[in-house]
Amino acid sequence: MIFNFSTNANQTHHSFSDEYLKSIHAKFLNTINRDDIGFFDLTDDLTHVEKAKNLYSKYKTKKHFVQIGIGGSALGPQMLIDALGKNKDCSFTFLDNTDADFLNDELSKINLKDSIFYVVSKSGGTAETMACFAICRQLLVEAGVSESEFNKYFVFSTDPLKSDLRDLANEKGFDTLEIPSNIGGRFSVLTSVGLFPALFAKIDIAKLFNGAQSIKKNILSTNYKENNLLQTAAHLAYLLIEEEQRVDQTILMPYSSKLKSLSHWFVQLWGESLGKFSEEKNKNMGLTPIPAYGATDQHSQMQLFMEGPNDKFLFLIEVKTRNFDFKLDNNIGKDSSNNLNGYTLNQLIEAQLHGTLKALNDRNRNVCHVQIEKNDEYNMGAMILFFESLTALMGHYLFIDPFNQPGVELGKKYAYKFLTQGKL
Ligand code: PA5
Repeated sequence: MIFNFSTNANQTHHSFSDEYLKSIHAKFLNTINRDDIGFFDLTDDLTHVEKAKNLYSKYKTKKHFVQIGIGGSALGPQMLIDALGKNKDCSFTFLDNTDADFLNDELSKINLKDSIFYVVSKSGGTAETMACFAICRQLLVEAGVSESEFNKYFVFSTDPLKSDLRDLANEKGFDTLEIPSNIGGRFSVLTSVGLFPALFAKIDIAKLFNGAQSIKKNILSTNYKENNLLQTAAHLAYLLIEEEQRVDQTILMPYSSKLKSLSHWFVQLWGESLGKFSEEKNKNMGLTPIPAYGATDQHSQMQLFMEGPNDKFLFLIEVKTRNFDFKLDNNIGKDSSNNLNGYTLNQLIEAQLHGTLKALNDRNRNVCHVQIEKNDEYNMGAMILFFESLTALMGHYLFIDPFNQPGVELGKKYAYKFLTQGKL
């Protein structure tokens, strides 16, 4: 991964001293060394991968993989499957909502008896997930599967110690994988949450882990000028905190359809981790994440990014090489199509990214141009650990705890009251 920053000319490069960056780095190191924070070490120990592989060999002939989960229990796996999935013999469905029409559409596309249902919930009792689980159970019964056969269809992933799913698995003998207690949902893609479906999609987990491991050296480096994590966080923090024009929106825009779900994974990670009330500052903090992908969003949100309020920081992600390419040679015979003759589709998307980058620079927009060699497991692993680490680090600049989510609890309480009492 190569990083190049260009920021609003009036706001210049961040001016934090090495001494200051060192103190922030020390706080970050302290965080990733805490026993209750495990995301940074997930690729050091392969025991959990082996467990997932053993279970995979039992179910690998299934034709459909249905993941039942929401938030961190869906977005990471979906990102892996969309970006890297290679198995044409197994379809993937993510039941991550309580929309009956959506569920009906999705489930009517597949043969339930050829499916594995992977029920994922760290807490083991999330209403949306339990509702979808209950529906799938019922539909299986209607398809002629008896309750005693459920353990051939359902696999759980949940907290190793306490959760309703854990208790149910113990009572009924369901196969179960673990989400370590020190991993929160949105940091869980490199646990069984993402790895079990990844196996069905024929994603190379060793390469994914190598990619994550590969950026650790840079993240831990005390050469602060070269430490991409510290430099990126410093830019974001400087623009947010130190300058008059508050830059408090973050856009992740990979130039790749296959990486569209990376943006959605990032949105949850960034939004749920960093948007909260800081007791220390007595202030509501946060950087609003905006999902985008190129070149498509050049014809949608880019106008706003170019000429709207200069309160945004854009990560433009360039994928330098692709597996396929198409020649654009044609005899359509119009100027707009003649212009494409002699070029390829990969050259076109590259030109679109570079053209947009230059135009953003001309307008003094805040951009980080990230280059990855290829959309593959290695680079995906590196991006996952980079953005997870960036989120953890930004928590220190914002004086909040990025690992909790107290705000969503209140809404859940009211929803339950509304469900049971019909009013609030
Ligand atoms: O990041 C988080 O912790 C949340 O978004 C959870 O992933 C989400 O609420 C689902 O929770 P659970 O996995 O406990 O069902």
